[in-house]
Amino acid sequence: MIITIDGPAGAGKSSTARAVAERQSFRYLDTGALYRAVALAFVEAEATPTDAKAQTLLSNCAIDLQFDDAGALHVLLNGTEVTDAIRTSEVGDMASQVAALPAVREALLPVQRQIAMRWSQSTGGVVADGRDTGTVVFPHADLKFFMDASLEERARRRHEEYQAAPNEETPPLEAVRDEIRRRDAHDRERALAPLRRPDDAVSIDTTSMTFEEQVEAIEALIERAKAGTDPSSSH
Ligand code: DC
Repeated sequence: MIITIDGPAGAGKSSTARAVAERQSFRYLDTGALYRAVALAFVEAEATPTDAKAQTLLSNCAIDLQFDDAGALHVLLNGTEVTDAIRTSEVGDMASQVAALPAVREALLPVQRQIAMRWSQSTGGVVADGRDTGTVVFPHADLKFFMDASLEERARRRHEEYQAAPNEETPPLEAVRDEIRRRDAHDRERALAPLRRPDDAVSIDTTSMTFEEQVEAIEALIERAKAGTDPSSSH
């Protein structure tokens, strides 16, 4: 079973997707982590997305996601663990820029599909989150969600995440709000695979929902979908 959750930054996608995957014994596919890993390669090489060396840099990026025995997700860039290094605002900003490059999206498409195939075969299900997982990457997903929240609430949550992050200083709330607004505009307005709600997605506005309510809303529909595909459910 493939479940997709798309939406803007700070809508609650990743924490919800992770929790849903854990409770269903599925795998959580963080597609943003793949874009962040490419972005880290650009940051480390001091390259801009329009650099002549961008294509070479991309060709030399081998990115993978792996789970350890304890169920923790590890992001690998050319065999090196970059799980924490990709969680900075500099890398997030660069991820939004490199994500607009056709070559990057093209390169990451098979990576996402292969990971999903590998994981759904081993666990029976994958919960993917991102910007185009329901529209482009998994157009035939079993269940699609679009999570959104007000800009103010999304900024407040991202600010809290910065406060909890070990490797970053917390920027002022206004700066976080500006960063989110800028990245959203960039993600929504790009020509290729822009952030948009899939026509067949269930919308969830999380502005005044608790985390538990978000997880339960999604789980309820997963259970219904499972029952619908389970022949024994008609008895
Ligand atoms: O979800 P995130 O903040 O980790 O994602 C980082 C950037 O990657 C985001 O600004 C846009 C890009 N992205 C994308 O274009 N498509 C996806 N499926 C996931 C992320």
